[in-house]
Amino acid sequence: MTLAEAKKRIADLRQQVAHHAELYYRQARPEISDREYDQLERELADLEQQFPQFADADSQTRKVGDDRVQGFKEVAHRQKMLSLDNTYNEEELRAFHARLIKLLETDDLRYTVEPKIDGLAVSLTYENGEFVRAVTRGKGDKGDDVTANVATIGMLPRRLRGPAPRIVEIRGEIYMTQAEFERLNAERAAAGEELYANPRNTAAGTIKQIDPTEVAKRKLSIVLYSLGYCEPAVVRSQTELQEQIRAWGLPAVEKYWAVRGIDEAWAAIGELDQLRRTFAYGTDGAVVKLNDVEQQRAAGATDKSPRWAIAYKYKPDSARTRLKAITIQVGKTGILSPVAELEPVHLSLSTIARATLHNEEEIRRKDIRIGDLVEIERAGEVIPAVLRSFPEERPAGAREFDLFAAVGGKCPVCAGRIARVEVDTGSGVGAAWKCQNYDCRAQRAGRLGFFCSRRALAIDGLGETVAAKLVELELVKDPPDLYDVTLETLATLNLGTTEEPRVFGEKNATKLVAAREAARALPLEKWLYALSVPDVGESTARELGRRHRTFAELADSALLKAVLEKAALEEERERDGPASKKNPPKDEAEKERRKTRRVAIDGELKALGSGILLGVPSDIGPAVAASTLEFFASAPGKRLLAKLARLGIDPQGTVQAAGVFTGKTFVLTGTLPTLKREEAEQKILAAGGKVSGSVSKKTSYVLAGAEAGSKLEKARELGVSVIEEAEFLRMAGG
Ligand code: IVH
Repeated sequence: MTLAEAKKRIADLRQQVAHHAELYYRQARPEISDREYDQLERELADLEQQFPQFADADSQTRKVGDDRVQGFKEVAHRQKMLSLDNTYNEEELRAFHARLIKLLETDDLRYTVEPKIDGLAVSLTYENGEFVRAVTRGKGDKGDDVTANVATIGMLPRRLRGPAPRIVEIRGEIYMTQAEFERLNAERAAAGEELYANPRNTAAGTIKQIDPTEVAKRKLSIVLYSLGYCEPAVVRSQTELQEQIRAWGLPAVEKYWAVRGIDEAWAAIGELDQLRRTFAYGTDGAVVKLNDVEQQRAAGATDKSPRWAIAYKYKPDSARTRLKAITIQVGKTGILSPVAELEPVHLSLSTIARATLHNEEEIRRKDIRIGDLVEIERAGEVIPAVLRSFPEERPAGAREFDLFAAVGGKCPVCAGRIARVEVDTGSGVGAAWKCQNYDCRAQRAGRLGFFCSRRALAIDGLGETVAAKLVELELVKDPPDLYDVTLETLATLNLGTTEEPRVFGEKNATKLVAAREAARALPLEKWLYALSVPDVGESTARELGRRHRTFAELADSALLKAVLEKAALEEERERDGPASKKNPPKDEAEKERRKTRRVAIDGELKALGSGILLGVPSDIGPAVAASTLEFFASAPGKRLLAKLARLGIDPQGTVQAAGVFTGKTFVLTGTLPTLKREEAEQKILAAGGKVSGSVSKKTSYVLAGAEAGSKLEKARELGVSVIEEAEFLRMAGG
């Protein structure tokens, strides 16, 4: 690998890893399996080690995945919350042991082996035995205060049993049982709502809800396994801690092993694998921890993880079955994707009859043929995937798959023209076939379903089936047409067949109408994302929504035109330079002309950079700019805008005018006479201010109410201004 190649691959991997970390930790909706994520991160770590000149202290390989979201108070951990390094085979595990022998200069090492729980990490603080706070891992040194939500967990005691330290941080994992997950999904299915993908993401998503009464409607569970700050110290080993957790009356892991040496640890990992499916929580591995606290301290930690503990990840569940056929699905963007139709097979608590084959290249690369025996894997989340075929057991008559031939050269849904396009497959750029008809039924239904999905306008109640039906009956062509469908039409919508009718019903219809009306008030960024503008993903939509007031402004965006102009200037600068090798100037006169032109270009670029494009992130690049402007100038784009205008829907951008609180940080304490805490926070944020959880010299104001406690004292100590609600409201302007 050349330096240039390494640099490019590292940049590429950093971007991918950051993207998937955001999806997993912050949004609890990963698009790839944990294993695929770990592989990306590991490739990145290896390259960073091999090419230290491209190291970056901010790389995801050196920090824990940040789970903080908006709407929660940030609280510092008394002791940092770390992550764990992963291993995938016996050899890597033995290397961990060998490192410790060298580091601690003894080969008499005892370990515990515990289940690795697949949930959401949390730190509980108990003061003098009383539960006072629950905080997520966040970015390791500080996390989100989720006390109110964690307090809804029935199995968590408010008071530790027996003698307790003055202050202790006890760490563990919040999870949802399979039974509760299934109950919730059955409820959602009945209401026609989008189903949740798996218990882990549902638990993580639930804890990050702002409203504790919503959290209380779902049964969450918790298990504790580690210690943060503890004063005074109470245990000398991990086994003592395990017993102490139980003695305090806290939920603990169902089984752990105390072992000596790595052979015994390896045997325990095998035993755990046999047992773990009977546990109440999902497990994806084993955690091996040095038992002795003194030795733990001696081994120390990196910024990201302790050297005294390691995770061993089990292979995901897989099964073998026969590939009966390959069918084609047309998505909301028109991409034709192959789907494996399988002989139904049991895998990780469910029956699987379909799996993704990603794309045609993947099928060829894995040498998968129709009629083959295949191995499928369910990597904890997302859709099951076909891993591999078994060519040595291939039956006579197994057929190779050719997508173009399979669909007869046209879209299988609308019979429209298909064309070859480049797509981002998640693991690089590949080619795919795409239906060219924007009005294809499949694309319409896909866009409508997406429009209503939780990530977009959250119009709950409109799942895939309802979307397909509305489009089939031509009640909806473009998503906004949903607003023209009457309550009666929705209520009587037949989702079944004439022989076996299944109506959507009054109750579901009423809910859907309420949700669609509520969506009118959502900001421009949500609407923009919801309308499936080509190349505009969630974060791009957010950035665009912050920089434009309305769709009208966006459709004719001066900012996007400037992005294109900048790209054109950069291209010209590169292509027609005075010393260009590819395109050398013909003579001295031209060289001089180019020099003058270069000065002019540099001036223009500088003006753009410090003017209209100041602070514009790389998310908004020329590709996004071109497709956004093109889309709103195209017939479908114009049609959408006209429909929104007719419906009186005019979403507003969140253009941040500097507010009265810009640059000010507030800390809230005590109960305010009229405002709820969230309302006060909302006012501060809306006026450009920040809210923090702890008082420091940097705090501008402490907003104090009745029964304000230690924060008020701290403010007085530091001489920070303390204000009451009345004064705050005056400052905020009413
Ligand atoms: S101990 C400093 N024990 O896995 C050591 N962690 O991938 C801290 N996890 O951040 C962790 N089960 O959230 C420990 N039995 C267990 C665990 C466990 C799950 C989580 C934890 C950690 C993550 C790392």
